[in-house]
Amino acid sequence: MDKRVRDLLNQQINKEFYSAYLYLDFSNYFSRVGLDGFANWYMIQAQEERDHAMLFYQYLQNENEDVTLEAIAKPDKVFEQHIDVLHAGLEHEKYVTSLINDIYEAAHDVKDFRTMQFLDWFVKEQGEEETNANDLITKMELFGSDPRSLYMLNSELAARVYSAPSLVL
Ligand code: FEO
Repeated sequence: MDKRVRDLLNQQINKEFYSAYLYLDFSNYFSRVGLDGFANWYMIQAQEERDHAMLFYQYLQNENEDVTLEAIAKPDKVFEQHIDVLHAGLEHEKYVTSLINDIYEAAHDVKDFRTMQFLDWFVKEQGEEETNANDLITKMELFGSDPRSLYMLNSELAARVYSAPSLVL
């Protein structure tokens, strides 16, 4: 495998674990303020990010490439309002989309079609992640300022259940 492609794939393991850590921190924030549904939503988001990390890990292993595990950065954002957390989530997903695109471009440059095919799932997934983050912001803007509506939204988010990724390596 091309060295740049391998390095970017390896870095992505770390980025996805950081994403899991970040969402766990968001979940922690919402637990602290008593919004258990939001906490559940981000807890499941964190699980999905761990799955993403493991898919990159597994892909490199399947390709007989070395994996190097680096330190995971500390999530250090401080939030003033609940909606700030949601905005931070959307911004983070846009950043992750840019990372996936960078790996895709590097793979494309060296005609690494197998890696491009592997990444196709993530390209689609990032579209869904951004849509979900946007939808959450819209709902919060509509209902967040009314306590009764916020309670209903919290209940809706409490119902989110984890499902394993559709991509199997
Ligand atoms: Fe692994 Fe939310 O992107």
